[in-house]
Amino acid sequence: MSYKQTFFWAVDNFLNERQHSEHIKEAAMWITKGEVVAFPTETVYGLGANALEETAVKKIFEAKGRPSDNPLIVHIASVKQLDELVTDIPPLAKKLMDHFWPGPLTIILKKKESVATSVTAGLDTVAIRIPDHPVAIELLKQANVPVAAPSANLSGKPSPTSGEHVFHDLKGRIAGILDGGQTGVGLESTVIDCSKGIPILYRPGGVTIEDIEALVGEIKVDPSLKSTDEAPLSPGMKYTHYAPNGTLILVRDRKQIPSLLAEAKAEGKRTGVLTTKDNQGSYTADVIVSCGSRQDLATVANQLYESLRTFDEEKAEIIFSETFPAENIGIAIMNRLEKAAGGKVI
Ligand code: TXA
Ligand code: MG
Repeated sequence: MSYKQTFFWAVDNFLNERQHSEHIKEAAMWITKGEVVAFPTETVYGLGANALEETAVKKIFEAKGRPSDNPLIVHIASVKQLDELVTDIPPLAKKLMDHFWPGPLTIILKKKESVATSVTAGLDTVAIRIPDHPVAIELLKQANVPVAAPSANLSGKPSPTSGEHVFHDLKGRIAGILDGGQTGVGLESTVIDCSKGIPILYRPGGVTIEDIEALVGEIKVDPSLKSTDEAPLSPGMKYTHYAPNGTLILVRDRKQIPSLLAEAKAEGKRTGVLTTKDNQGSYTADVIVSCGSRQDLATVANQLYESLRTFDEEKAEIIFSETFPAENIGIAIMNRLEKAAGGKVI
């Protein structure tokens, strides 16, 4: 499927309320007509379609080039919509929803028949969240259907954190993009399975493990998040996401980076470094990208995907990246960096 035109609807602060709602209405109309549109959330941009309509959902997989065995997240505007999607809400799931929704936490529950089969890739469970973004909520209300939406990038590329990123990846492949500027968290939501007794964390994200355990006590963590020998429990986690075109290598001891850069340079490679503003001045490379500040890891999360995209734009052939402490949001940052590096850590 290709589109002659991909609409680009601005929904930023420069417009008045009436223009905002006109643009959101138009995007919602495309969703009700069974088409796919991209929209901002507080995590990353999503690529949405009516979750109850098989043919609409299939267009998402087609536009992204996403493997069909990788299920999607269903976005809703209100917990009232859960009734038509899931068979049962365990008390613990309810507690998580009450506390973290709207927000970057996706909860997996046992699904009802109404959910399109391709949304769940044939599984008997469905992943759901209420996003914390006024444009997303307004779109969901206007469309008046649950909206299945993965991140709005081409499969294998970093998730989009701006309307431009979506345009770059999906222009001509989707009906339109609601451009709400830069997203907040910058990494995808935390994914937790509440359909199997004790909750299991599949993907670390904006809501941290520490936050969740403070509320509900100890949870299980998918063993594949700790050891690469284990196969992931969630289908999507087995794919190498977010890989830049150049070779990305994570370097635990950043003092080694200057000599690694010198070696790569001597081999004639176009070099890159992913650092933060704290250490920016300590390297010589063709492409130096500073990603937030170590004093506040939320800024690193916010800028990580944009930074990875810069290396592609600047055609870096080999990229050395600093690592971050694996605690709180640092766990999600390291998870995405390890995936982007395909496990190359020295
Ligand atoms: O922040 C986010 O979560 C963004 C925004 C748009 O909401 N969406 C997003 O979707 O990151 P996506 O498709 O890129 O990631 C969904 C993840 C995948 O790893 C998928 O395998 C997992 O959730 N997932 C979805 N349904 C599942 C299910 N029933 N069982 C296990 N894993 C599931
Ligand atoms: Mg994704």
